[in-house]
Amino acid sequence: MFDTIIPRKNSGCFKHDGLSMTYGRDDIIPLWVADMDFAVAPEIIKALECRLKHPIFGYNLIKDDFYQAAIKWQIEKHDFDIAKGNIIAVPSLMTALAITVLTQTEVDDHILIQTPVYPPFFTSVTGHKRKLLTNELINNDGYYEIDWADFEEKAKQAKMFILCNPHNPVGRVFTIDELSRMNEICAKYDVIIFSDEIHADLVYEPHEHFPIGKLGYEQVITGISPAKSFNLAGMATGIMHTLNDDIAKELNTMNRGLHTFMGNSFGLAAFTAAFGESEEWHAALMDYLKANCDFLVYYIQREIPQIKVRACEGTYLAWLNCSELGMEDDKMSKFFVDKARVALNPGTNFGKEGSGFMRLNFATQRTVLEEGLERIKNSIREII
Ligand SMILES: Cc1ncc(COP(=O)(O)O)c(C=O)c1O
Repeated sequence: MFDTIIPRKNSGCFKHDGLSMTYGRDDIIPLWVADMDFAVAPEIIKALECRLKHPIFGYNLIKDDFYQAAIKWQIEKHDFDIAKGNIIAVPSLMTALAITVLTQTEVDDHILIQTPVYPPFFTSVTGHKRKLLTNELINNDGYYEIDWADFEEKAKQAKMFILCNPHNPVGRVFTIDELSRMNEICAKYDVIIFSDEIHADLVYEPHEHFPIGKLGYEQVITGISPAKSFNLAGMATGIMHTLNDDIAKELNTMNRGLHTFMGNSFGLAAFTAAFGESEEWHAALMDYLKANCDFLVYYIQREIPQIKVRACEGTYLAWLNCSELGMEDDKMSKFFVDKARVALNPGTNFGKEGSGFMRLNFATQRTVLEEGLERIKNSIREII
């Protein structure tokens, strides 16, 4: 089912229709924006069709089945009992993050992130006039680890820490030990943790996602969403969770103040069907993505040895170390667009530590991925 190519051009999707705007041409294979070229689960389509049968789309009341679907998924997949906390519906995890920044920190407060990282993390801090602290992840031959001394030093100065787990773009799924240590340091210095777990259900065995909120620290706010794992980014739906009633009150008040609390009719239906009914589809997706990841790593190791890559522990994003090509970042970005004719994300978008890297989204049909890799291989062979 995931092998079927579904043309997306002119569907108003950023990944395909935004190529010209971003790369200056559209005859390139889009392996960039983090969504998938796959149809969603049949259960989601059915739920949307059912919602469409009722022809009125007025203000929504978020029904209990929405919350129950999220609670069930979290307990069954991650042994995380969010029923015991407060659940707040939001249009996106970046909205959840902005609400957290606005309510839990003040102008000029310091907020810690682990770089390289998803670009909107930077702007969610600076855009609200807060100050950035960066804990650079250490690249050990493609395996990224935490610089603990630096983390603790920065945590001392920080009001809040934004955790990305699983991590975009480096593909790490942090271990219980790592999470316990981050949790302990944040608790010691009274640092609020916003844990972005949007990639939580894109984890490959033997790795397992462990929600940091399970450790019971009351100042954790967890962002949970079906956007990545069920391909629903355009449905604008997600939740945030916290154990702390006072924090929940503040988050809720801001969510109402911004008028982002109501959900949209289709997003609510899709969210409920995703977490509530689409487990089988999701299991098949994971098999396909794992095979794509294995294919990509094997292909690159065998055919494009100038690029270094490691199988990611989670996400469908491969972090390609292209530094051996010896190009300046701008030149390298142009090379991938104009010579290889593939659209990847330049590593520097994720912070200065991304210099020499490109990010490749492999959540596409195997044939498309293969063609993209072949183009990269051929273009590199021309220059060596
Ligand atoms: C780590 C991370 N957080 C959040 C998002 C975006 O989530 P949303 O669309 O719910 O704001 C992405 C999208 O790629 C992501 O990778």
